[in-house]
Amino acid sequence: MKGIILAGGHGTRLNPLTLAVSKQLLPVYNKPMIYYPLSTLMLSGIKDILIISTERDLPAFKNLLGDGSDLGCNFSYIVQKEANGLAQAFVLGEDFIGDDKVALILGDNIFYSNRLPKLLRANKEFEGGLIFAYQVSDPTSYGVVEFDKNNNVVSIEEKPEKPKSNFAIPGLYYFDNNVCKYAKSVAKSKRGEYEITSLINKYLQINKLTVCVLDAGTAWLDTGTFDTLSRAGQFVEVIEKRQGVKIGCVEEIAYKMDYINKNQFEKISKKYQSSGYGKYLLDVLVNNERV
Ligand code: DAU
Repeated sequence: MKGIILAGGHGTRLNPLTLAVSKQLLPVYNKPMIYYPLSTLMLSGIKDILIISTERDLPAFKNLLGDGSDLGCNFSYIVQKEANGLAQAFVLGEDFIGDDKVALILGDNIFYSNRLPKLLRANKEFEGGLIFAYQVSDPTSYGVVEFDKNNNVVSIEEKPEKPKSNFAIPGLYYFDNNVCKYAKSVAKSKRGEYEITSLINKYLQINKLTVCVLDAGTAWLDTGTFDTLSRAGQFVEVIEKRQGVKIGCVEEIAYKMDYINKNQFEKISKKYQSSGYGKYLLDVLVNNERV
């Protein structure tokens, strides 16, 4: 399976922070934001990853992540000229996706749960489209999924003024290979975007949509405003300090999932040894715990 990280847009809600820097490169405690969605894809077993961003920001992502070989992955890059909507990822990514299935994750979405990696790997055999639902107190700024009494999906709506449920759709989506074809037929919405929810609706109409409800033990964090960005950083800091583990640590994940060997991991750990991050990596190396 291939993976796409959508890390474009202008991040205007975070101005002036994003005047010169991509939102998805801003720090969330001790790592650039994109490490978190990248770690989610890696934990679900994906190594071939396309990073989509703006003309201005793509070089910075390349500087940060390179070709992915340090992490045992293959990273490709493509520019999205205008922020025309999430569904465009599958049009831009068509050649990259080839004949494979694909997971799309939004570059500003952070997931944390001990159970998530298992869940993601277990769900790899899905047919059609697989999305998630997560209960939130105010779903008006998200895609919203409505269920009937038997937990069948009844409707999918983008940012409804009057949501039919409290189940928001997080920015992590799995699709079969038809997604490229369907994405080309998506029409622009009233707000002028190729909506991901239009694409999801296509899978719903043909009865090929699975919605997996994420339980309360999973944290799904937003980073779109000053407050939510700051709270996401606090969340990561609290968990990391309390438990002594790191969230979204892509080097550790690459090592523990056998994407890279001990020598490669040692080399990368030494690169960061003057920061607490590097010291943590060297500790992992010594303790040598693999999952
Ligand atoms: O976070 C989950 C929500 O993400 C979903 O519930 C919604 O259904 C979905 O539409 C999306 O809503 P947002 O309002 O959060 O989308 P936003 O425009 O903020 O874009 C999300 C990320 O994708 C952001 O990091 C910027 C990037 N992006 C966005 C667009 C529209 C791109 O790279 N290209 C784009 O064209």
